[in-house]
Amino acid sequence: MKILRLETSFQGKASKSFQLGNAILENLVKKYPGSQVHTRNLVHDEIPHFNEIHFTSFATPVQDLSTELKRAVQYSNNAIEELMESDIIVIDVPMYNFTIPSSLKAWIDHITRAGVTFRYGENGIEGLLKNKKVYLAIASGGIYSEGVMKDFDFTEKYLRSVLGFLGVQEIFAFRVEGVAIPGIKEEAMPKAIHAVEEAFAF
Ligand SMILES: Cc1cc2nc3c(=O)[nH]c(=O)nc-3n(C[C@H](O)[C@H](O)[C@H](O)COP(=O)(O)O)c2cc1C
Repeated sequence: MKILRLETSFQGKASKSFQLGNAILENLVKKYPGSQVHTRNLVHDEIPHFNEIHFTSFATPVQDLSTELKRAVQYSNNAIEELMESDIIVIDVPMYNFTIPSSLKAWIDHITRAGVTFRYGENGIEGLLKNKKVYLAIASGGIYSEGVMKDFDFTEKYLRSVLGFLGVQEIFAFRVEGVAIPGIKEEAMPKAIHAVEEAFAF
């Protein structure tokens, strides 16, 4: 298996989503021995904020791209190539202000491309990211999988929608949650890792 790992927390190794992502990755490598893992750190990447020039570059046929437009489409081309080559994508997702980090949103803006990762066909919209599995490692200060804050979660809900739109049919979400709540935070990581191990035991 070719695995693409997206790191998105600015907290590096201390990051909870990174630690949970690592647990997922370890289990994937055990399940599929010989897998190749390619890591992309979206915090260190200088992802261009999606702008008119990028949109124009997407809509321009390759042979008509100016030097400026070629430069503008480069990040998208590289990101899509990495994605297309992968069978499995592991995404670390720290929750910031109820949603995903803006770097991850910027990455999504560059990989969501009509005619490349989705198309408008006779039967409506067709996602072109076929036969891929996505694993989400979501970390949050509060609890969103149940209870009063459930409707405030725009991490899993959003990622399932946009990746589903792009054709990904298998999306698995794991959460380390309540990391800011005394009495819950102490057990949050062991509980999350246990959930990963249970899921891979079958
Ligand atoms: C800028 C910022 C915004 C945050 N917003 C939320 C939030 O809306 N809800 C929440 O439950 N936790 C929030 N948190 C807490 C983080 O989700 C939590 O610390 C999590 O562990 C971050 O992921 P990481 O450890 O992988 O960096 C926020 C943290 C930061 C730094």
